[in-house]
Amino acid sequence: MTKKMWGGRFAGAAAASVEQYTQSMSFDRALYREDIAGSKAHAAMLGAAGIIGADEAEVICAGLDQVLAEIEAGTFVWKRELEDVHMNTERRLTEIVGPVGGKLHTARSRNDQVALDFRLHVAARLEVWGAELARLVEVLCTRAEEHAQTLLPGCTHLQPAQPVSLAQHLLAYATMFRRDFERLQDCLKRVRVSPLGAAALAGTTYPISPAQVAQAVGFPATFANSMDAVSDRDFALEALFCGSVVMMHLSRLCEELILWANPNFGYVRLPDAYSTGSSIMPQKKNPDVCELMRGKTGRVYGALTTLLTIMKGLPLTYNRDMQEDKEPFFDADKTVTSSVAIMADMLAALEFVPEAMRRALSRGFLNATELADYLAAKGLPFREAHHAAGAAVTLAESRGRGLEDLSLEDLRAFSPLVEQDVFAVLEFAAAVARRNLPGGTGPVSVAGQIKTLRAWLADIC
Ligand code: ARG
Repeated sequence: MTKKMWGGRFAGAAAASVEQYTQSMSFDRALYREDIAGSKAHAAMLGAAGIIGADEAEVICAGLDQVLAEIEAGTFVWKRELEDVHMNTERRLTEIVGPVGGKLHTARSRNDQVALDFRLHVAARLEVWGAELARLVEVLCTRAEEHAQTLLPGCTHLQPAQPVSLAQHLLAYATMFRRDFERLQDCLKRVRVSPLGAAALAGTTYPISPAQVAQAVGFPATFANSMDAVSDRDFALEALFCGSVVMMHLSRLCEELILWANPNFGYVRLPDAYSTGSSIMPQKKNPDVCELMRGKTGRVYGALTTLLTIMKGLPLTYNRDMQEDKEPFFDADKTVTSSVAIMADMLAALEFVPEAMRRALSRGFLNATELADYLAAKGLPFREAHHAAGAAVTLAESRGRGLEDLSLEDLRAFSPLVEQDVFAVLEFAAAVARRNLPGGTGPVSVAGQIKTLRAWLADIC
């Protein structure tokens, strides 16, 4: 049996089942890079502060480099009985450099160590999420540029409402994903706070420099309160919330693509690479990627709920319950990263069907608001104009035609204010083109939105 690093006061060994139950090595080994970076920063600080010899700090750092190399080469022997990544790396360090390795843990506890490792990991992953989100926004801008002139029915209540450009529809998502990116940046400010120096919970008597460690690991700030530093996981909660919002946005987009791929809409043809067939129905082309992404959204919400629940009853400070914080995050990270990346690739390859969108425009009286606005512009109070346009819709509907197919006489029956110029107003493209207010669906506005998004992308990349 390997003697526990904390085993000084223990006479008996842990039951095998308990050893298995309590270990976290099987999953927190994923934090080895962060663990070694944090340990090196800590050792260098101990050396600089004279808490250990400068030569000893150098020996420890060189040993840690070797541990890292062994892990990356796959020759490192992970031991479950050493519980976690921290004790696995430290044990191997001591094997390599001898007893001086035991000095690494001076003025440190696994409580501040694991908090630092996890913060470093979450920060690194949020960077990756951000990069993928930026790529997704880029793809959406490109597809929007191609489709500034493509019109489709914009919906409310999933009912045809008003004509919009496909560009405007795509840019709505680009705007959401930009916000998601910015939400991550804001979250990162609170993730990038070094807890090292909080030690077990109360800080330490050694003359340490938490700021030096923070700087060495690339964090701009250090903890404000030692008890908070070792027991706070809201940085991970915020990250999971950010991930949940990303997935919610992706899931809405997936839902639309699933509808649009249905032949009754027919607005998109899914690329073969992003759809699957049926084992029994030869005609099928199923939007499985979108469905899975919609489904996987639940995993990320689940991770957020898991961690909220883990934390809700914990008295200060560290409690072992908190070891359960990592797996939900790892799982959510895998889901968010792959989902954003696949959505970007799929959208780049997606085939839009403008003819189907145009056909859909002529069903659903999407220009009824135009008629009401036309009458209102001629002085009719909007409520009356709305009523007159509604009556015109009823007539057109009874004939199975669109408003634009009614004759001037037909329309004048609802209001004598109607004149020949109404037909230009009822055109879908004209309805879109009139909406050039900032943020509107008009082509000038759309070009402006793309310009702004591209300038933003250039700025953040
Ligand atoms: N594996 C533990 C975790 O992930 C490390 C911290 C353990 N600290 C302790 N005092 N038992 O939370």
